[in-house]
Amino acid sequence: MKITLPATSPMLSKDFTFGVATASFQIEGSAHNRLPSIWDTFCATPGKISDGSDGKQACEHVKLWQQDVELIESLGVDAYRLSISWPRVIKQDGSLNSEGVNFYIQLLDSLLAKGIKPYVTLYHWDLPQHIEDNGGWLNRSTAYLFQDYASKIVAALGDRVHSYATFNEPFCSAFLGYEIGIHAPGKAKVAYGRQAAHHILLAHGLGMQVLQKQSPHTLNGIVLNFTPCYPHSYNIADINAAKKADEYMNQWYIKPLFDKCYPDIINDLSSDDRPVVEAGDFDIIAHKIDFLGINFYTRAVYQAHTETIYAQVDMVNAPKTDMGWEIYPQAFTDLLVSLSQTYPLPPIYITENGAAMPDKLIDGQVNDVDRIDYYQSHLNAVNNAITQGVNVAGYFAWSLMDNFEWAEGYLKRFGIVYVDYHTQQRTIKASGKAYRDLISSR
Ligand code: FCB
Repeated sequence: MKITLPATSPMLSKDFTFGVATASFQIEGSAHNRLPSIWDTFCATPGKISDGSDGKQACEHVKLWQQDVELIESLGVDAYRLSISWPRVIKQDGSLNSEGVNFYIQLLDSLLAKGIKPYVTLYHWDLPQHIEDNGGWLNRSTAYLFQDYASKIVAALGDRVHSYATFNEPFCSAFLGYEIGIHAPGKAKVAYGRQAAHHILLAHGLGMQVLQKQSPHTLNGIVLNFTPCYPHSYNIADINAAKKADEYMNQWYIKPLFDKCYPDIINDLSSDDRPVVEAGDFDIIAHKIDFLGINFYTRAVYQAHTETIYAQVDMVNAPKTDMGWEIYPQAFTDLLVSLSQTYPLPPIYITENGAAMPDKLIDGQVNDVDRIDYYQSHLNAVNNAITQGVNVAGYFAWSLMDNFEWAEGYLKRFGIVYVDYHTQQRTIKASGKAYRDLISSR
């Protein structure tokens, strides 16, 4: 089975970047060589991870990175998106950990030697635990610690990086981690979620200042995730419910970057739940970015609710991935078009898109036609947005390989490469081959 795009698609031009993505905690393992992060602590808390697993070994990427770079090369991609583990590169006293830094330097050098562009995310959720012990993202000073970490690591990596993203998905860190507590650090209060989001956005702006000064020639920006919100009916109450949910879940994290304020739904929050915003914060947050990274997986459907204003509706009969996420590619096109109409966006990179499927390794093969279908329909959706004038410059599949899927542990497989966690053997799935063939057809 193949993945194809119309022969005239701009996505088939050599200027369009195709890549694969991973994140440090999800693949690296070698936890003993770094400081503990909030995810180590969360994993050690009974009941938090579905299979009771942790990131101590994961894909053993710190040990197997050389073969992983060859794997990436064999897929023929233009770029590889990875994240730096803050607790691996900065010691508790704030100084650089040279062993950790050297790991990334070797990795980046090897990617560059193979002509693969490194897209580096500075924060993909693994906050050092000692910083959490001091309040984590609820403490404003964490934003300044992030700025200091960014400054040191950017200086250390020199000219090896093609693109920097400050943060991956502030929504997940703030909402899942501090508002409803299903991700690390597992705190649960509306006020916490909103304050954490504000401090992360502030840290993003402070990070952009560093990047502009120390790394003006890389493509610098942020990665946001979006789950577009649809009304369950044409009823005005449902339409309003979906709009409110969209403001709370999606617009909250993008509007400050361009409009220097939070969406109107902030007025529905009690004054205790509103974040503390200091004078000048929005000017820092709205620092010009060179690109916007967009992660898309699914949509959500809402109906009006008397107490909570909006309530999500489970689309019982809709097609879903192994995560239970509805497969609805039209939302991807709608999202890209509507964001481009709402904000003065820089070029967009799709920094994550993909699907968990119930893969089976049979006779050394994974015939994941369901995942190929997902990629086909979602690449078409991106192409449709481009046809409507949206400026999309690249696309990264999530993920290079199966890995630690946060609260789901190792139960959900997102890779285009299968990982046997006992032998650490990697096997390119049918989807990986189809992705490789699409890329090489250009
Ligand atoms: C995103 C995360 C990524 C991965 C995918 C499935 O929210 O950025 O690390 O877990 O979901």
